[in-house]
Amino acid sequence: MPPATASPALSSPSPSPAAPDKRLRIIDRTMRLHGYASHALIETLHAVQEAFGYLDPDLMRYVAGRLKVPLSRVYAVATFYHFFTLKPPGEHTCVLCKGTACHIGGAAEILRQVEAMLGVHAGETTADKKISLMIARCLGSCGLAPAGVFDGTIVGNLTLDTVVNKLQEWRSHDADHRKSAGDCENRDRCP
Ligand code: FES
Repeated sequence: MPPATASPALSSPSPSPAAPDKRLRIIDRTMRLHGYASHALIETLHAVQEAFGYLDPDLMRYVAGRLKVPLSRVYAVATFYHFFTLKPPGEHTCVLCKGTACHIGGAAEILRQVEAMLGVHAGETTADKKISLMIARCLGSCGLAPAGVFDGTIVGNLTLDTVVNKLQEWRSHDADHRKSAGDCENRDRCP
């Protein structure tokens, strides 16, 4: 039986407060699959990063409590391996799955094109801090392959068009928001 550790406050790591529970379920499922054993720490931290884009302190405390390992060990592991990041992602997070089922479904080509479009490699954030591009090894939704997570929402049967449309939607929505907030550099030309 897992210890009765309270769920972390997910408001801070969540770029989309509407969908924090799904991501937490991914983390819980990883720990449950390993019987909440301490040796599941690295695997669980992978799940945290794949779901949230980085290792948030609240989530590291949560994992430490669930797996009954000292928080110092969680930090030691998180800072030792280069593939973990403690830095928060950009305003929006796009996670593309590169697991076997998604790879067969064309995920590698989608990732290649998206990297070129955004001008970043997987694991990086665009220079304007708008979009972080991450990769996952499996999102547990292989039946939907190729799959991805957009601001915490899992989307399946991805095509390059659906991904590009989503990224452009984020950018145009943010531009509209800035304009309506009166932050346009050419205010006299704004409608
Ligand atoms: S391999 Fe992509 S969701 Fe499982």
